[in-house]
Amino acid sequence: MGLRPGSPDCHCQDSATFEMAAEESQPLLSSRKPSEQWLLPAESVPVLDVYLSKVQNRKLYLATFAALLGPLSFGFVLGYSSPAIPDLKKISDPKLRLDTNEASWFGSVVTLGAAAGGILGGCMVDKVGRKLSLMLCSIPYVSGFTIIISAQNVWMLYIGRILTGLASGITSLVVPVYISEISHSKIRGTLGSSVQLMVVTGILGAYVAGMALRWRWLAVLCSFPPCIMLVFMSFMPETPRFLLNQKKRTEAMAALQFLRGSEVDHEWECRQIETHAEEQHRLSVAEFKNPSIYKPFLIGVALMFFQQVTGINAIMFYAETIFEEANFKDSRMASVVVGSVQVFFTAVAALIIDKTGRKVLLSLSGVIMAISTAAFGLYCKVILPNPQNSSQSDLLTTLNSASVAAENNLAWLAVVSLGLFITGFALGWGPIPWLVMSEIFPLQARGISSGACVLTNWFMAFLITKEFHDLTGFLTSYGTFWLFSVFCILNVIFTVLYVPETKGRTLEQIEAHFRRSPAP
Ligand code: BGC
Repeated sequence: MGLRPGSPDCHCQDSATFEMAAEESQPLLSSRKPSEQWLLPAESVPVLDVYLSKVQNRKLYLATFAALLGPLSFGFVLGYSSPAIPDLKKISDPKLRLDTNEASWFGSVVTLGAAAGGILGGCMVDKVGRKLSLMLCSIPYVSGFTIIISAQNVWMLYIGRILTGLASGITSLVVPVYISEISHSKIRGTLGSSVQLMVVTGILGAYVAGMALRWRWLAVLCSFPPCIMLVFMSFMPETPRFLLNQKKRTEAMAALQFLRGSEVDHEWECRQIETHAEEQHRLSVAEFKNPSIYKPFLIGVALMFFQQVTGINAIMFYAETIFEEANFKDSRMASVVVGSVQVFFTAVAALIIDKTGRKVLLSLSGVIMAISTAAFGLYCKVILPNPQNSSQSDLLTTLNSASVAAENNLAWLAVVSLGLFITGFALGWGPIPWLVMSEIFPLQARGISSGACVLTNWFMAFLITKEFHDLTGFLTSYGTFWLFSVFCILNVIFTVLYVPETKGRTLEQIEAHFRRSPAP
């Protein structure tokens, strides 16, 4: 029997390939044991599957591509400091020349701007909408880079970095939300993971361009992606969910027509979202007592915390030094190698995530990172035999000392563990926290909860990059990497116990899952 979307005869609206969907409101499915839900009779082929089989994704890809120019811009911001700092340290103008302390602020202040961007983005995304928030980001991006290009002193460089950081913070919130709200459950994982793919592509782009361009011209180049994003986004629709929440039904239908092609019953998807949107009301603080609000909130914030305590930003910061030690003479080339490994494995994750699911990749990624940070800790322990001497400067001195590693013949261990770590991060803990953040929050709490996630992520990134030196002084360098390793093990335990599997589910089903789950 051909099931028409919206047909009253059809009881089930969702894919039979996961338990949660089956739990939800379908008498036909909920009476079955989870194992039986995989063996549904042919006549109950889910309506969602029928609907999705007719969807044309071309324009959805186009809208995703336009939005992804945002994370590409934010990757350029993150990657910019690595090639620019050596230039700015050597510059002849004393008013612009950075000393070591100023260089570290120039690198890290962007994370503080991004943390502020999380708060601002959380307010904007619900007030002015997803599309306009993203378009507005181009203002701080371009003005930040313009201030850097025309900088006359170090303060102008800092202000430029803070502004580009602010734009990055807003982008890191808005783009995952925009993409998850315009996609459908079949490809949401791949499209959502492309956010991280574009971030790491932007980082790599800045590293590669930095080999040829001086810091001012590099800043000129970095200001292009946000301008192109602004132009492309102006032709793309707002998300149907935001529009329906604003009671703009006609615009929502037009957006669905654009995103899904002409073959499907847009009215059906519109009604699915609408029914849900009608149940939503304004969020009050008291509602954070409600498990359907606070559970996803805590999971999202914890994911961001755990992503940063893997030590990713500290390790990326030291990557060049580690490669130098292993006799990679050109440290800029080493950054390009690290960046390429990230891009490659993030692309692999994006391609497989809708098949493997989020939990498997997160767990695998956590295990790989736990092993590689433990191995790197071991490497530090062997080349730093005396813990009393392992102060913060020892780490740098030792990492800079090719002779110590050569004597111990252990440089390979450093390079292999670093490569493994980057691979592990790219496969799971890089893309998935951002993806899950965009999937698990109920519509009315999406802005505020995503804002809290972005704030946590960037604030932790700031703390770890800024305090890494002190931590190695306090715990020794191997102790610090073993601490990262312990956190990676905790990441895996947290994933197994608390992270919901969102593969194949619609956003409405995910929300229903949290509504049903009992309070502790
Ligand atoms: C993280 C950043 C990190 C970047 C590059 C992002 O997912 O949030 O802190 O610098 O990936 O790997």
